[in-house]
Amino acid sequence: MPTVLILGGTSTIARAIAGELAARGFDLALGGRDLAELEAVAADLRVRHGVATTVHRMDVLEMEHHATTLKACLTPELRGAVLAFGYLGDQRRAESDAAEARRILDTNLTGSVLALDVVAAHLARGGGGFICALSSVAGERGRQSNYVYGAAKAGLTAYLSGLRGRLAPAGVQVLTVKAGIVDTRMSAGMPGAALAAPPAAVARAVVRAITRGRDVVYVPWFWRWIMLIIRLIPERIFKKLTL
Ligand SMILES: NC(=O)c1ccc[n+]([C@@H]2O[C@H](COP(=O)([O-])OP(=O)(O)OC[C@H]3O[C@@H](n4cnc5c(N)ncnc54)[C@H](OP(=O)(O)O)[C@@H]3O)[C@@H](O)[C@H]2O)c1
Repeated sequence: MPTVLILGGTSTIARAIAGELAARGFDLALGGRDLAELEAVAADLRVRHGVATTVHRMDVLEMEHHATTLKACLTPELRGAVLAFGYLGDQRRAESDAAEARRILDTNLTGSVLALDVVAAHLARGGGGFICALSSVAGERGRQSNYVYGAAKAGLTAYLSGLRGRLAPAGVQVLTVKAGIVDTRMSAGMPGAALAAPPAAVARAVVRAITRGRDVVYVPWFWRWIMLIIRLIPERIFKKLTL
């Protein structure tokens, strides 16, 4: 059966996406650092959908091991990958603690990019498939409340744009998901909870965008218009906003 690799298989959004893909008959390979939790997610998917699901230990920060760790997942049946690794971190702490700033950048950008590079090469050799990565509207404009995370997501979005061009001739779709606020443990306590979308609705929109061959999708859709307004605010005004 065609298989999809979920990088960050314990993420709340990724679990919902995995369920949507399993319902469409895809087998799954789940990567992440918490094997016990991955096993629980896999068992649930097997029971609910009857799909084959394997688990693979992978820490996105252990970048030197990515190629070896991912080797077991790079099978001829692999049709796609969903990247859901993410770390919001603490912006205030990151301003004076280099380790925190680095963890935000390495989880969301460097480690994620290096993992996707390995998968991209495999899919290009296989002649098709898709890569779907969870970026964020936070990457569209640096806000003082979370600009290290925003910078990492902006970098990821730029990487995906270039990767899309590189992989298009090989028939590999690259989907950038620009997620707004989603109701997960990552967004718990964040201002703007009223705008938080349910992970199940986000997963449906993401899988719809995969099946339609889209390049970029805002989830929920209305963030496209919110971010248009945010981007249009002149810098001299934007710098005074405590967003
Ligand atoms: N929730 C939102 O409002 C929102 C908005 C925009 C974009 N996003 C993005 O959506 C994606 C999924 O986030 P989520 O909301 O589902 O949050 P989540 O449940 O906290 O998921 C984060 C995932 O990243 C994994 N992770 C973090 N550090 C890791 C490491 N060093 N090695 C391996 N895995 C690591 C976590 O694994 P553990 O379970 O082991 O911690 C978890 O699977 C992220 O990229 C996030 O930035 C979320």
